Amino acid sequence: MVGFPGTSMFGWEGKFSDEELEALVEYLKLFEEETFEIETEQIEIGEPPPVTDALMATGLDVFNKAKCWECHGKYGRGDGEKGWQPNFKDDWGDKIWPTNLAHPWELRNGATLEDLFRSISTGLDGTPMPSFADSYSMEQRWGVSYYLKSLQVQRNFGSVLVLEKAKEIPQSHNDALWDKVDFLDAKIEGKKVFGIPFISAITNMRVRGIYTNSQVAIMLEWMDKKPDKGGEGLPPDALRLQFPSESNLINIWYWSASDDQAVEYNASGSQMDELTKQERTDITASADYKEGIYRLLFIRKLSTGDKNDIVFTPGRNIPYSIVAYDGKNNEQGSRGAVSVVRYMYLKTS
Ligand code: HEC
Repeated sequence: MVGFPGTSMFGWEGKFSDEELEALVEYLKLFEEETFEIETEQIEIGEPPPVTDALMATGLDVFNKAKCWECHGKYGRGDGEKGWQPNFKDDWGDKIWPTNLAHPWELRNGATLEDLFRSISTGLDGTPMPSFADSYSMEQRWGVSYYLKSLQVQRNFGSVLVLEKAKEIPQSHNDALWDKVDFLDAKIEGKKVFGIPFISAITNMRVRGIYTNSQVAIMLEWMDKKPDKGGEGLPPDALRLQFPSESNLINIWYWSASDDQAVEYNASGSQMDELTKQERTDITASADYKEGIYRLLFIRKLSTGDKNDIVFTPGRNIPYSIVAYDGKNNEQGSRGAVSVVRYMYLKTS
């Protein structure tokens, strides 16, 4: 199928026009009529109890005892090892992935406290997500709902990312400095491929950066349920960070998980799939994957002397865009998660 692994579908409303949605639904029906017959059971919800430290502790306890982490991961990011197993499938035999509960916008059955309570109580028919209504009390289920709420990511949207000047570039992904500098989140999503909407698996990109007298470092952070180096017919995870250069070509920094390295390409803005590899690569890149999160660090000189490269001039808005690829979702080329154009600004004093 053209990129519709059931699990990474989410929040269609508002994303496509009614017409597009209808066309899409018709198209999907050709393949899987039954998936449209899933109905969730109605349950009594009542009023949520007020949140207390004791209730949060109960929630964490249930999260551990009920082994939510086996599927959803320690921090709910959908990276639990059960999901990695090839036999983790829905009732129709299709590969399925546990939901990333830290991304409220990805939840198909809603992300409010009540929605979470309902999903946990009923489970999700046709999927490996069990019902917990019989095994845990109302109190325990509210507790774990509050706990999941606390795992949800808060996004910081904006169009201009400010890079502060520092004495040195941190060489580690987990340097404490990264938690002190500002970050911006960008929604990223698939574009139509041959007229059919493509649902990407990666949905958010967090960007931060810093610079010195001679270098700039840009760190990209995103959630991915499993790191893929490629192989077995699937491409590796990859990322493109794209800037306009002086020569009017696009300067593409292309990182791939297959060798954890980056190369530079150029493309003309109108032919983004026709890449010309640069003879010399001026960037260094390396990524770190931990508990459902990728952190990818690019470092480069502010200026390289190559007119096909971006020049980082402090005090100016520098446009950039991002394309991120999830290997297990068979993403490469025009099948990827794309951001709109954003700006970075190297702060002058
Ligand atoms: C055996 C694996 C497994 C376990 C254990 C599990 N889940 Fe799930 N869960 C899933 C899968 C798979 C889905 C996604 C189903 C789908 O595609 O819609 C899911 C979906 C959910 C959803 C709804 C997501 C949405 O899209 O609205 C919530 C909430 C949730 N799980 C919470 C929990 C909590 C809390 C626990 C522990 C009490 C738990 N899950 C245990 C596999 C599991």
